[in-house]
Amino acid sequence: MRVGLFIGLLGLVPSVTAYAAGLELVYSLDRATQGISISKNGRKFLSQRYSTSFPPQIVELLSDNTTTLYPDAAWNSYNSSDPTSNPRKTFVSVDGARIGPDGRYWVVDGGSTGVNGSTKLVGVNLTTNAVDKIYYLDNVKASDSGVDDVRFSASGKIGYLSDTAGALIVLNLTSGHAVRVLASSDSATAWFPMMYNGTLVPGYGGADSTLAVGLDQIEVSPDGTYLYYQPCNGGMYRIKTAYVDATLTNATMAEVLGDYAEPFSLTPSTGGTTIDGDGNVYVSDTNLLAIWKVTPEGRATILVQDDALLWTDLMWVSADKKLWLPASQMRPGSDGLMADGPNYIFTYPIDAGPSPIDHA
Ligand SMILES: *[C@@H]1O[C@H](CO)[C@@H](O)[C@H](O)[C@H]1NC(C)=O
Ligand SMILES: *[C@@H]1O[C@H](CO)[C@@H](O)[C@H](O)[C@H]1NC(C)=O
Ligand SMILES: *[C@@H]1O[C@H](CO)[C@@H](O)[C@H](O)[C@H]1NC(C)=O
Ligand SMILES: *[C@@H]1O[C@H](CO)[C@@H](O)[C@H](O)[C@H]1NC(C)=O
Ligand SMILES: *[C@@H]1O[C@H](CO)[C@@H](O)[C@H](O)[C@H]1NC(C)=O
Ligand SMILES: *[C@@H]1O[C@H](CO)[C@@H](O)[C@H](O)[C@H]1NC(C)=O
Ligand SMILES: *[C@@H]1O[C@H](CO)[C@@H](O)[C@H](O)[C@H]1NC(C)=O
Repeated sequence: MRVGLFIGLLGLVPSVTAYAAGLELVYSLDRATQGISISKNGRKFLSQRYSTSFPPQIVELLSDNTTTLYPDAAWNSYNSSDPTSNPRKTFVSVDGARIGPDGRYWVVDGGSTGVNGSTKLVGVNLTTNAVDKIYYLDNVKASDSGVDDVRFSASGKIGYLSDTAGALIVLNLTSGHAVRVLASSDSATAWFPMMYNGTLVPGYGGADSTLAVGLDQIEVSPDGTYLYYQPCNGGMYRIKTAYVDATLTNATMAEVLGDYAEPFSLTPSTGGTTIDGDGNVYVSDTNLLAIWKVTPEGRATILVQDDALLWTDLMWVSADKKLWLPASQMRPGSDGLMADGPNYIFTYPIDAGPSPIDHA
């Protein structure tokens, strides 16, 4: 602001693209982009949601900065009006996406209510660019479930999926067996509507409605000891993964898992989180248009704040110690929380690289 004023006094036009120090605009995309994942050898994958006019899709961002449907056009071809469209073999409603510790690109398909086979976790082999793992979640989800993101255990053998109805799905990737836990826990419940740029987020239920979203963000500490999670309105908890993993075989533990949840940090309304190799959790603040850093000791500070950080969602930490910030530009409102482009992806320097069990 001050710099702009002095430049103004000199008679020059103040730059409107002066972002907060350290914040660098790297991509400007036509489609609203919710998330970015970067493979070990630098390939970039985007999940594109939040559009008023297009269905959600997955694309690879190529080196000439064009995009191509990923893993192919067929997986991105679902058409609910076409009876020959197969919801088991297409993305029906992609949400979170992540490269896992096994090097696969994992896509969470929240699916559609009443469409069998549409809610699933899909694994793409980045060498063959072919889907080689699919876990259908019909049997574990509830009627109001919104399955929307995934993280993995240190062994890479257990998947943790968030369910915005306010629950966690624990999935044994070896057997395909899954349990839905924390559904009755306050720690997974949206106890307040979300905030966006100073006000409550409007809901889908008419003029006076507000949007409240349950358990959404999840992270696993780099040593695999803790699972962090929170409802979208914030209030982050952590719980030992040993207890979480036991729910796969111990029905009593599945019932009482919430008793083991520890309050961790009073985080704000959030679009997305990520974690670095030192175990710092980054939390996008949809209200102050900022990114918070929460240390493993639970000390929370604002790392960077800028009006351009509009609904930053699925962030990524790269090996060159940068935090990648897809500011999805989602603007809550009567369109039902959708935005059209342009969409910006920023980077911001941090002190650590990726977590070995989170980013391949
Ligand atoms: C693609 O975008 C990157 C990041 O902004 C930029 O460095 C590069 O020059 C662009 N490449 C082309 C071919 O436009
Ligand atoms: C979806 O399917 C319907 C019925 O077959 C067809 O009329 C429509 O053009 C399709 N939409 C797209 C985008 O392909
Ligand atoms: C979906 O699956 C359920 C349970 O297997 C079955 O009863 C139902 O008929 C299926 N619906 C469709 C549309 O295939
Ligand atoms: C991906 O495919 C390659 C080539 O077939 C194979 O060597 C590799 O093990 C696969 N990756 C995973 C994670 O299974
Ligand atoms: C996952 O399933 C495999 C195969 O059934 C089993 O050996 C393993 O113990 C299970 N893991 C957990 C954590 O329950
Ligand atoms: C945030 O709110 C302020 C105050 O009403 C307004 O000036 C600004 O344009 C808003 N920003 C966005 C991105 O909506
Ligand atoms: C199952 O979990 C309950 C609740 O935490 C615990 O008391 C019990 O010892 C566990 N059972 C086994 C076999 O580990």
